[in-house]
Amino acid sequence: MAEKITLSVIKADVGGFVGHSSIHNDLLETAKDRLSNALEKGLLIDFHVTRCGDDLELIMTHKHGVDAEKIHKLSWNTFVACTEVAKKLKMYGAGQDLLSDAFTGTVKGIGPGVAEMEFEERKSEPVIIFMADKTSPGAWNLPLYKIFADPFNTAGLVIDPAMHEGFIFEVVDVYEHKKINLSTPEETYDLLMFIGAMRRFMIRAVYRKDGMIAAVASTQKLSLIAGKYVGKDDPVLIVRTQAGLPAVGEVLEPFAFSHIVEGWMRGSHHGPMMPVAFYEANPSRFDGPPRVIAAGFQIANGKLIGPRDLFDDPAFDKARSRANEIANYLRYHGPFEPHRLGLEDLEYTTMPQLMKKLEKRFEPE
Ligand code: F6R
Ligand code: MG
Ligand code: MG
Repeated sequence: MAEKITLSVIKADVGGFVGHSSIHNDLLETAKDRLSNALEKGLLIDFHVTRCGDDLELIMTHKHGVDAEKIHKLSWNTFVACTEVAKKLKMYGAGQDLLSDAFTGTVKGIGPGVAEMEFEERKSEPVIIFMADKTSPGAWNLPLYKIFADPFNTAGLVIDPAMHEGFIFEVVDVYEHKKINLSTPEETYDLLMFIGAMRRFMIRAVYRKDGMIAAVASTQKLSLIAGKYVGKDDPVLIVRTQAGLPAVGEVLEPFAFSHIVEGWMRGSHHGPMMPVAFYEANPSRFDGPPRVIAAGFQIANGKLIGPRDLFDDPAFDKARSRANEIANYLRYHGPFEPHRLGLEDLEYTTMPQLMKKLEKRFEPE
């Protein structure tokens, strides 16, 4: 049996340039230096450092499995080193996502977002890593449903015998800290009931029915960790593709529709998810609109061959221009719902303070 490898994507916002729009090159170089050292020491098989908006993304392959303390520690120390650089340059919100003073075995629950999967490398292993900025993990629910359960999106669900049986979705209730596995196509309607409520229920992983892991998403919610608004979670997603899994084009297809996600300015607005090329991943208008990049890799004996910039394709121009139309339309609403998030989503921002301040002035009507 072939040896298993682990693909880890660990990310954090440790300082923005300028404001929350992008990242200074010195932070990327610092991260590369750190991971190069780890590579030389044999801790990693390979790595790629990139960014989406103000989020620093560490993409790593290794043999230590998921949740490996060594890999999490390396990532944490890398973010700490980048924070030091960010502080020197007085980058905006330096160290913003590092919610703990100390590392205690895992980066989970102390700020960074994590998506990791361990698998046996196939004869050819094409994967796509999606990275988003100015939104939260529920943003993956709609595209993941379409990729793995909608035959109008994924022709392979009908045509390819290896996919015909359907997939299993692991769904997390991020408020109650519970999870459930739901199987498609049999439990499609049950699944949709949950994942349509994407603030609370998030798809964490998708498996083929023979147990093969197909996708893993980060589901960390910073506000739930910190108990207050400390920036958006800006999630990542790993999807394996082809040869009995959805094709690269089927995995990208849902993003030709700019669906509405939460995030954008102050993490408090609904806006369209705009698929962009790497060089366009700098949210500036009203700190957005939210955007997503897709980095394609072929993994060869653990080496990351790539990335290919998969949204750098005129076929996504229409989605981008529609996203801008939707952005205009929503912006006209200013501070009114549904552009601004509903009250229950503002509980970690100004609302509780305002309520408290005005409490005494409320009288029976
Ligand atoms: C959204 C985000 C930004 C900030 C906004 C205000 O995820 O990070 O939209 O919320 O720029 O930032 P502060 O309060 O730091 O001035
Ligand atoms: Mg930021
Ligand atoms: Mg961000």
